[in-house]
Amino acid sequence: MDYKVKDINLAAFGRQEIAIAEHEMPGLMAIREKYAKEQPLKGIKISGSLHMTIQTAVLIETLKALGADIRWASCNIFSTQDHAAAAIAAAGVPVFAWKGETLREYWECTLKMLTFPDGSGPNQIVDDGGDATLMIHRGYAAENNPAILDEPSEVEEVKIINSILKEQLARDNQHWHKVVADLRGISEETTTGVHRLLHMEKKGELLVQAINVNDAVTKSKFDNIYGCRHSLTDGIKRAMDVMLAGKTAMVCGYGDVGKGCAEALHNERARVLVSEVDPICALQACMAGFKVCTMENAVKEADVFVTTTGNCNIITIEHMAAMRDQAIVCNIGHFDNEIEVNKLEKFPGIVKEEIKGSFCPVHKYTFPDGHSIYLLAEGRLVNLGCATGHPSFVMSTSFCNQTLAHIDIARNPDRAVGVYLIDKKLDEEVARLHLAKLGAELTRLTQEQADYIGVEIDGPYKSQEYRY
Ligand code: NAD
Ligand code: ADE
Repeated sequence: MDYKVKDINLAAFGRQEIAIAEHEMPGLMAIREKYAKEQPLKGIKISGSLHMTIQTAVLIETLKALGADIRWASCNIFSTQDHAAAAIAAAGVPVFAWKGETLREYWECTLKMLTFPDGSGPNQIVDDGGDATLMIHRGYAAENNPAILDEPSEVEEVKIINSILKEQLARDNQHWHKVVADLRGISEETTTGVHRLLHMEKKGELLVQAINVNDAVTKSKFDNIYGCRHSLTDGIKRAMDVMLAGKTAMVCGYGDVGKGCAEALHNERARVLVSEVDPICALQACMAGFKVCTMENAVKEADVFVTTTGNCNIITIEHMAAMRDQAIVCNIGHFDNEIEVNKLEKFPGIVKEEIKGSFCPVHKYTFPDGHSIYLLAEGRLVNLGCATGHPSFVMSTSFCNQTLAHIDIARNPDRAVGVYLIDKKLDEEVARLHLAKLGAELTRLTQEQADYIGVEIDGPYKSQEYRY
């Protein structure tokens, strides 16, 4: 029994929802069909650290249909859909994920996902946020210098990772060196994970090639914008059942995710405020009709706060202490350090109440002055913690890019260490694969038009999306 899920009896339910999702993921299913005979991933061991949802189940079964040998874990303690995990386990894929893991369980699942039955590691990794990449690179570094695992840290999660890596070091002090020797490449799903990769590359610490899936146009300009436009308010409504119309909502950050979130809240007829550090994004928010202001100025005005920055300490304990009674606070960025949850927990005299269980985490914090705030998903991404994440259609575009990235790594296993983008022609192909489902008719350039604007008839084209 090489899996760990909440309840394997949920498999039939999961299978039914996977069938619905397949219908809504035309690009991914087309890629599955196109490459099924060729088997470009045949015999390749792939480990995945990405939210174990129904949509991810369709990705996993696509990689499997292309020949890969797969192991999977979620990349967040709250994002697993237990029926999806059960269906995947029942189909014979080792999966280690359930909704409401502890942090220790999370990192143990990550280790299991990276360890194949013969003790070896994967050839290729699907990462979302960089935790699988971190475990391998930190494990490798610790084999060169075990003292790094003893460096003091205030962060609970760092202590957990260090202790799991110490146990691994005691079992085999060359384990991660062997894993890296077999590893051909990593694909990274999200903005924060790409930042981590670029940081490692800059410091000379990156050990293998990595494909930046996030910055494919058909990923960041679709999933991050339209996906969050759908799933942010889904999460807030499932958590709080609150009417957003007429309320004031503060969106911190107006990048791709922030743009989708602000639009969703505006569509609910909330009054939207935005904070930004980038003058271009701030001006874009003004042009969209939103008031741009600082957290300090929004704190007394807003009823709902959403962080979308991928940065840390955006909503501080001072902000929360000054908020209006019954304010709702949540984050949709990848990590939970956008809100100072640790300081909220330790605030002198604070009273914490659990409103819902881990199926939809909502907590009420009452300050000694009598005002309360509601924190959703313990400050982790609200769309996956309190709802089911983005819908299938938009995940199809993201996961087409993931699948193409893995075919690319398989075909170019010896590419130099570095962070690479997906070819623009493939990016366009992903978009093309989704047009028919929406009844869109694409216009084809004439030769004269192609010559006039200086492109090939069949692309890549030079639309605005490629220039920035
Ligand atoms: P982005 O870089 O496009 O946008 C982030 C924005 O935040 C930028 O415009 C930046 O200027 C702004 N910012 C940074 N520091 C700030 C501060 N102190 N105050 C105000 N604004 C600040 O990134 P993105 O693609 O929008 O992704 C944002 C986060 O969301 C990342 O962590 C990403 O991994 C995550 N993400 C989550 C989901 C999801 O489903 N929950 C989906 C996609 C991306
Ligand atoms: N990220 C956002 N929504 C998602 C989903 N439904 N499945 C996997 N990853 C996601």
